Amino acid sequence: MTDFEDNDIVCRHMQLTKADIVKVIRDKQLKTFEQVQDETDAATICGSCAADVEAILEDELKKREERG
Ligand code: FES
Repeated sequence: MTDFEDNDIVCRHMQLTKADIVKVIRDKQLKTFEQVQDETDAATICGSCAADVEAILEDELKKREERG
């Protein structure tokens, strides 16, 4: 679980909020961190947000699995 609210900026270099990242993960059914980077450019500048982006992805994958 992450502590981010939907409107919190997760990647300040790309100005991406949690909601922005979640939307791309859901819309494109992304599975890997690399795919999230390719689609959003998150964590491609300084990388300090990488762990947070990964945590958001993991939450989404878990939710996807639970939904079946
Ligand atoms: S904060 Fe995400 S690349 Fe710098």
